[in-house]
Amino acid sequence: MRHFLSLVDTSSQELNELLNLAVRLKIEWQRGGNEPLLAGKVLAMVFQKPSLRTRVSFDMAMRHLAGDALYLSPNEIGLGKRESIADISRVLSGYVDGIMARVFEHKHILELAHHASVPVINGLSDYNHPCQALADVLTILESFDHLVDLNVAFIGDGNNVATSLLFACARLGMNFTIASPEGYDLPQDVLGCAKEMASETGISIKTERDPKEAVKGAHVIYTDTWVSMGQEEETKQRESVFKPYQVNSELVSRADTTAIVLHCLPAHRGQEITDDVADGPQSRIFLQAENRMHAQKAVLVTLMG
Ligand code: CP
Ligand code: NVA
Repeated sequence: MRHFLSLVDTSSQELNELLNLAVRLKIEWQRGGNEPLLAGKVLAMVFQKPSLRTRVSFDMAMRHLAGDALYLSPNEIGLGKRESIADISRVLSGYVDGIMARVFEHKHILELAHHASVPVINGLSDYNHPCQALADVLTILESFDHLVDLNVAFIGDGNNVATSLLFACARLGMNFTIASPEGYDLPQDVLGCAKEMASETGISIKTERDPKEAVKGAHVIYTDTWVSMGQEEETKQRESVFKPYQVNSELVSRADTTAIVLHCLPAHRGQEITDDVADGPQSRIFLQAENRMHAQKAVLVTLMG
């Protein structure tokens, strides 16, 4: 592994190795602290959009591993505006040991990686969110002690988070169903790519319109915002289209009795998820948020260690 940009580029074996390492590093941290595996190493964190989890979890992960992180805010370096992405990438490569970037357009992270001589990590693009998916599967693993043959139901927008979750399911042997309104489906190329990836694991991939159908037999119910960063102008339209796609207690009661509820956060309580579900016994959303830090340690150590 040279970069961590999409789970399409990560084999099942590599993904399992990352997961195992994340589990080991989490246990080590809980027992008193991590070994200084990234002593003296610095990660540059480039953000074109706001963030709580990605920013803080990467920063803390670097500190726990005896490294350091440098936050570069949306206006600071003007990715592709003040300076070309290629030049920024080459300049940063001379200073730091790794670059994590959150961008609007996925092609921009590809460009950053293309010109970098240090590892580049995708901290979310319009296409996908692989660090999130890694934390998601770590959370599922902790809840069920296994992954293969579990049923994952994503309710809502066929967006970046749904894309990475589907890729993770395809690589790790979990069945995936998504229920989204017409016009907000996962892109055909994402579904095609996942089907190819799934040829190894033989999972089922289903698309539904009815959320009730999607959660039947589900062990994991996942939702995300109806309006992703960069789509603010569509807020009114989206809030009306997605109303029937709320994850509430009635919907959760239709899933497997052991089902857990996940959300990448930030949550819009009362919209895609109700308070009683987000704070209820089946919710794992805060464990999932914490797991971003543990999962990303595995990525950082693998790429920069
Ligand atoms: N889930 C997630 O990526 O959160 P942030 O946008 O706060 O980083
Ligand atoms: N789909 C959301 C995820 C936020 C972590 C977005 O892109 O804004």
